[in-house]
Amino acid sequence: MPTVKKSPTSKKKTVTKQPPVVKKVAQKKTTAAKKIAPKPSDKDLLANFFLDELKDIYWAEKHLIKALIKMEKNATASALKEAFANHRGVTEGHITRLEDVFGLLKQKPIAKKCEAMAGITKEGDDIIEETPKGTETRDVGLIFAAQKVEHYEIATYGSLAELARTLGLQNVSEILEETLAEEKQADEELSKLAVRSINEEASHEEEKPGFFERIANMIG
Ligand SMILES: [Fe+2]
Ligand SMILES: [Fe+2]
Repeated sequence: MPTVKKSPTSKKKTVTKQPPVVKKVAQKKTTAAKKIAPKPSDKDLLANFFLDELKDIYWAEKHLIKALIKMEKNATASALKEAFANHRGVTEGHITRLEDVFGLLKQKPIAKKCEAMAGITKEGDDIIEETPKGTETRDVGLIFAAQKVEHYEIATYGSLAELARTLGLQNVSEILEETLAEEKQADEELSKLAVRSINEEASHEEEKPGFFERIANMIG
């Protein structure tokens, strides 16, 4: 009989002593974790975002080299072929400038897939597939695609140059501004080509109604 009474008492003691020990260990771990991983400042977050965007446009420019080769090959008007060839050379310069920027920031030049540029150049591929070879209509389509590319680059370099200034990177901002000016120039040249030559030729395609004539007839 006495043996049966003693056994529950000893079990009770063990159960009540354990929880406080576990609690103390857990508290210590939380304090240590806070010290190891401090919250990043807004400036750190902004700098990381800037670097990420640089990687994005670096991929875009490299991808564009391949796209410009394809566009030049598929263009009909010699002036347009020449414009694509020239801009390929200019784009190679943009890649070198971005590598200079990575160097100034003491970072390796890393390319991160730019979904926007992948999509715009895919649209260029679709235009080539959907328009007959050797027509001015295809040239008009290629100018559309190329101007979308330039507008994307203008938006990106404009924002990057501004962000570099905000981060106190004046020298980086000036490099990006140089590229921005060249993107704007390329866009203007494409507009001139579209207005002065390609569009006119497309609307006078032999005796058959051209693309723009058909559109005009549909409208009214
Ligand atoms: Fe560019
Ligand atoms: Fe460009």
